[in-house]
Amino acid sequence: MLQQIQTIKERFISELESSSTLQVLEHIRVSYLGRNGKMTELMTFLKNVSPEEKRTFGPKVNELRDFIQQSLSTKTEFLKEQEIRKTVLKQQNFDVTAYKPEMPKGTLHIYTQLIEQLENIFISMGYEVASGPEVETNYYNFSALNIPDNHPARELHDTFWLTIPNMLLRTHTSTVQIRTMEQQKPPIAVVAPGRCYRNEATDATHDFMFTQVECMLIDKNITISHLLATAKTFLQEVFGKKDLAIRVRPGYFPFVEPGFEIDASCPFCTQGCSACKKTRWIELLGAGLIHPNVLKCGGIDPQQYSGFAFGMGLERLAMIKYGIQDIRLFHSSKIEFLNQF
Ligand code: DAH
Repeated sequence: MLQQIQTIKERFISELESSSTLQVLEHIRVSYLGRNGKMTELMTFLKNVSPEEKRTFGPKVNELRDFIQQSLSTKTEFLKEQEIRKTVLKQQNFDVTAYKPEMPKGTLHIYTQLIEQLENIFISMGYEVASGPEVETNYYNFSALNIPDNHPARELHDTFWLTIPNMLLRTHTSTVQIRTMEQQKPPIAVVAPGRCYRNEATDATHDFMFTQVECMLIDKNITISHLLATAKTFLQEVFGKKDLAIRVRPGYFPFVEPGFEIDASCPFCTQGCSACKKTRWIELLGAGLIHPNVLKCGGIDPQQYSGFAFGMGLERLAMIKYGIQDIRLFHSSKIEFLNQF
């Protein structure tokens, strides 16, 4: 037992020496003097030995307990004093006149945030991000998309023509369809966000400059089911609603056949609200199976390959998602608007 008392004492001394905070010290106190500590263990053991042994070892155990108590309180005093000294030193060096200017914190523009979110959704489905120029030719914006000169569909695009013949500001991102087909061989899976321009009067829902996102998939045996599943998955992700449904209506776009308008079930209500104008559906995508003439213009054989494409206005999506009332806010530099995102 003497040996045991000696070992506990040596261990205690070494632990005490290496402790440098009050927390550690408290930990040591509990492990030696606490209810389940080493000293309590010794005392319990002492109760069961013979009276002679008690007489020999009792005082030794008491001595050890006094020693531990004394050493702990000395070290506690020492550490407390040291802490006070540190605080005083810190306060001495504290300059009350120092001025730290507040740093205004910026965020990414709502456009950039949304485009990154959309790109990530498509990338997770195996798509690549593609792009094309904003200053385009008549060919990529219209002719190659099955909209020949004098076609009435051109009237729907209020085009900003440049003074250079046949040059314009692109009216949609469908231009990227042909440009991508020229550069890649099927299977092709691309998503192309970008600015578009239309020469029309601006109001709360129309702007002369806006953003579209175009999605295109071309491979063998691509069908309407691929289009619908992709559009649905994408919309569910954008609105973070796994039970979002889609509805398909016929729509006319010269570069697709058949063409559709795809609506999403209102992400905010089940009974009709201001976001869906009480209809429970929100019109979001123009879509369809790529017209054989368009595939041909892109150098792809429509007998072998088929594909789908859809396009949407990014501002419209953002306006619905965030309840923004005026499309012109996006490229205004109103700080109160931008700060919200
Ligand atoms: N480019 C069309 C527009 O600006 C939108 C669109 C409709 C894109 C149908 C597509 C599509 O890819 O298949 O109105």
